[in-house]
Amino acid sequence: MRPSAVTVTAPAKVNLCLGVGPARDDGYHPLATVYQAIGLYDHVTATPADDLTVTVTGHERLTIDEVPTDSSNIAVRAAALLAEHHGLGCGAALAIDKGIPVAGGMAGGSADAAAALVACDALWGTRTPREELMEIAAELGSDVPFALVGGTAIGSGRGEIVAPLMTRGEYWWVVLESSTGLSTPAVYKEFDVMHGDSPVGDPEIPDELITALRTHDIERLGAALVNDLQPAAFRLRPELADALALGLANSAHGALLSGSGPSCLFLCEGQAHAAQVGNGVRELGPVSYAVGPVPGARVTASER
Ligand code: C5P
Repeated sequence: MRPSAVTVTAPAKVNLCLGVGPARDDGYHPLATVYQAIGLYDHVTATPADDLTVTVTGHERLTIDEVPTDSSNIAVRAAALLAEHHGLGCGAALAIDKGIPVAGGMAGGSADAAAALVACDALWGTRTPREELMEIAAELGSDVPFALVGGTAIGSGRGEIVAPLMTRGEYWWVVLESSTGLSTPAVYKEFDVMHGDSPVGDPEIPDELITALRTHDIERLGAALVNDLQPAAFRLRPELADALALGLANSAHGALLSGSGPSCLFLCEGQAHAAQVGNGVRELGPVSYAVGPVPGARVTASER
């Protein structure tokens, strides 16, 4: 019997390093990145319906009114692509409950897309093989395949090629949100402007970062965090540099922008240290705490 409702939970991502190469012919940039899924979540509930529809709820600080509620919503596009893949005219009512900052550089939209794929696959009983789901995910966006996989992983290509990475222990993050989002394409465009005609090297993952993750050396990891998009994001939003500096002045082991920003991440030793760092930066915006790595999009409730 088909379920009458399926809820899927999908995590936010952070990039512990984000190496960015020169723009390709298709406009995308080659990446060398280490993703980590952290414990900030969106939930997507799919119920049977004749058409594809979406509603969005979430905490008022999350500017959810910026999330489209028509067919341009990435969760709706994900469901439509899955239906098309199976040659079906399936409908579903998708209810997104957001906990991940909107346009914050934490792949909230990608989490919704991954969640919608898993939820609709269960709702419709289409039993899509994992590899096919990963291919559909890559079509939807560069970060969507990682949202399916979760954990810690190396990302290459434009970010859509994901290989799991073994790490030790857990990592505590303070997330400082911004009240206004930053457009990912705008940050990449600024990156191109900044580099002009001067050559950009091939992106690389620092050995130090991998070693720090394998040995769970938080101080070493903090020093190895790197984000090539940061200078471009600072040009668009200079105050972000001050926010990172404030976290470091308040004893964070490392600080960097999440993806294209504007969410700021501070790496901490554990819960007490995170509370200390969080208190030090909360004058600048809403603060949340998250631990990684956590699993990718997965069914957390199913009603018959
Ligand atoms: O793949 P996704 O739809 O998430 O990408 C959003 C935008 O971010 C792209 O249109 C592009 O401008 C930029 N981008 C990029 N290189 C990447 C990933 C994203 O230039 N590797």
